Amino acid sequence: MVVGGTQAAKGEFPWMVRLSMGCGGSMLTEQLVLTAAHCVSRTGNNTSITATYGVADLQDTSRTTRTSTYVHRSPTYDTATGGDWAIIKLASPITGASLLPIATTNAYNTGVFTVAGWGATRENGSQSRYLLKAQVDYIDDTTCKNADPYYADLIPSAELCAGNLAAGGVDTCQGDSGGPMFRRDGSGAWVQVGIVSHGNGCARPDNPGVYTEVSTFAAAIKQAAADLGGTPNPPTGKVFENTADVAIPDAGAAVYSNVTVSGVSGNAPSALAVGVAIKHSWSGDVVIDLVAPDGSTYRLKNSSSSSTPDVNTTYTVNASSEVANGTWRLKVQDVYREDTGYIDSWKLTF
Ligand code: ARG
Repeated sequence: MVVGGTQAAKGEFPWMVRLSMGCGGSMLTEQLVLTAAHCVSRTGNNTSITATYGVADLQDTSRTTRTSTYVHRSPTYDTATGGDWAIIKLASPITGASLLPIATTNAYNTGVFTVAGWGATRENGSQSRYLLKAQVDYIDDTTCKNADPYYADLIPSAELCAGNLAAGGVDTCQGDSGGPMFRRDGSGAWVQVGIVSHGNGCARPDNPGVYTEVSTFAAAIKQAAADLGGTPNPPTGKVFENTADVAIPDAGAAVYSNVTVSGVSGNAPSALAVGVAIKHSWSGDVVIDLVAPDGSTYRLKNSSSSSTPDVNTTYTVNASSEVANGTWRLKVQDVYREDTGYIDSWKLTF
């Protein structure tokens, strides 16, 4: 890749994959590779792609290769929604492969990103035998749209721009498509924020690279992976928990348990995991809400006729409009007479 790149060391970006049609990719699970929709033709059986894993030098004989069996192409690609992503299923897992977690929140769609690939090293140049890496700056949607007429139809919710805006000189290029754009998350681990998608030439001033906005499609990617029999690594989650018991009065006022979140930059995830453990002799009596730091309330569970005891569930909340840091509250109310219980513990995973 890249105009302006330097060689990456073997093992530096262990989840990087080279695909035989001339694209990049990243290990989503041991048997699934995340790439770009425009790198593949359609959803369906496909045994024509070879994935190369585990090397920086494509000629390194220690490389691991796998043939594809199936391709899932984003159904929203080439629609107004956008979504230049696809998943390739390998014939067998690469056991022990390093996986790159995908961003489930827009919190990391900012700052400086790293890109890597074996694509062209200059516009119209040839592909690279060695994996190259570079750093590119986040460019906001409005600046990107106005950078050059080429970018006028940017889809802000589906695409992220990055590059060296005024000077150019650093960019992904043909053959890098499908590869990841990534950065460090709140706990210092790599997280994938983009997929190399397109651009006007390569590394020209005022012509940034355009990347699939991974956080927007995280839920769809996870669902597609599940349908293909895989579970992507969750981003290295920070867990915030309260294990103090709180009694729930019978048909009484709501009670609260607090969890204070700190050190998480930006907003909460679009799939915030809320783990709840409540001991109660009749779970249908209980109504549960999550209250965000600003007081916004998300209903987790309504009352019902269910006589099943206890609640032991992880709820998923789209909390992407909430700032992560602050005091979150679990609000629990028993709304029917007879039967009581207590909040045993609950936790938020960011
Ligand atoms: N579409 C290209 C590919 O198939 C990637 C182009 C990226 N271009 C850029 N200027 N960043 O490899």
